[in-house]
Amino acid sequence: MIADHSSQPLNTLISLAGKRALITGAAQGIGAATARRLAEAGADVMLTDINAQAASHTAADIAQQYGTRVVSTHLDVSDTTSIIAAADLCVSTLGGIDIWVNNAGIFPTTGPAIEATDDFLDRLLQVNVRGSFACAREAAQRMNGGVIVNLASTTGFRAAAGISAYVMSKHAVVGMTKSLALEFGSKNIRVVGVAPGPIDTPGVQDQLAPLKAAGLDVGARMSQTLLGRAGQPDDIARVILFLASDLAAWITGEVVVVDAGSLAG
Ligand SMILES: NC(=O)c1ccc[n+]([C@@H]2O[C@H](COP(=O)([O-])OP(=O)(O)OC[C@H]3O[C@@H](n4cnc5c(N)ncnc54)[C@H](O)[C@@H]3O)[C@@H](O)[C@H]2O)c1
Repeated sequence: MIADHSSQPLNTLISLAGKRALITGAAQGIGAATARRLAEAGADVMLTDINAQAASHTAADIAQQYGTRVVSTHLDVSDTTSIIAAADLCVSTLGGIDIWVNNAGIFPTTGPAIEATDDFLDRLLQVNVRGSFACAREAAQRMNGGVIVNLASTTGFRAAAGISAYVMSKHAVVGMTKSLALEFGSKNIRVVGVAPGPIDTPGVQDQLAPLKAAGLDVGARMSQTLLGRAGQPDDIARVILFLASDLAAWITGEVVVVDAGSLAG
């Protein structure tokens, strides 16, 4: 007889009480919004970032709002020693790892593929691809069941000229998510992804600064979605919360597109 889960109350399905979550790149943008929602849902959270000071400020802000444990530490996803140190610190400080969000990523201006240097490619892949893979590996070694959430992108499904290296890195994240789900399922670890469309974050604002300086109405451009507004970090954090919770207990190896329909047409 297959167990019937339908009587489990909704509030316990969405609750992350007793869970321990580590988020990479959590100082700002989607990572910070995710840390906030996971803490609100009851998880103890460790915010990590290459910018430890900024992560510490964000953590202090979140800690003021919610009653869970909110801590922070340095983690550079391009440095495996740093990943291991943060993962071990999460285990020793919060008591374990149930949720790991691979959010840290870079999207530097790339320009024509013909001009991409090897150094540029190495750095992009080191952070977006090797970093996410190494984090997932170190997380899985320390998890006793749980969920790993990878930040992909709509560019993980669709080509885009001018940012081909970034597109390549996010296609890799999609493939990694599905493959690791196959390997980690037997450990009761779900591996899922979120593929955002353009989201108004500090990182994106930095990218758009030259266009703004050239007089383009960037806000209006970002608002040209099917839903008539730009995506916000919390639009993604809500879906990560869903995927991390027991509401998504039977989802693994899937990457959820959250893009106000941009891939639909
Ligand atoms: N914003 C978007 O439009 C968008 C769309 C699709 C996918 N994404 C993905 O979502 C994730 C977050 O994007 P965002 O817009 O919030 O970015 P952001 O630039 O606003 O924030 C990224 C954070 O990651 C940190 N970081 C950078 N390199 C790091 C490293 N080596 N190790 C650890 N931390 C590092 C930064 O310090 C920063 O705090 C990225 O993986 C990005 O590719 C973003």
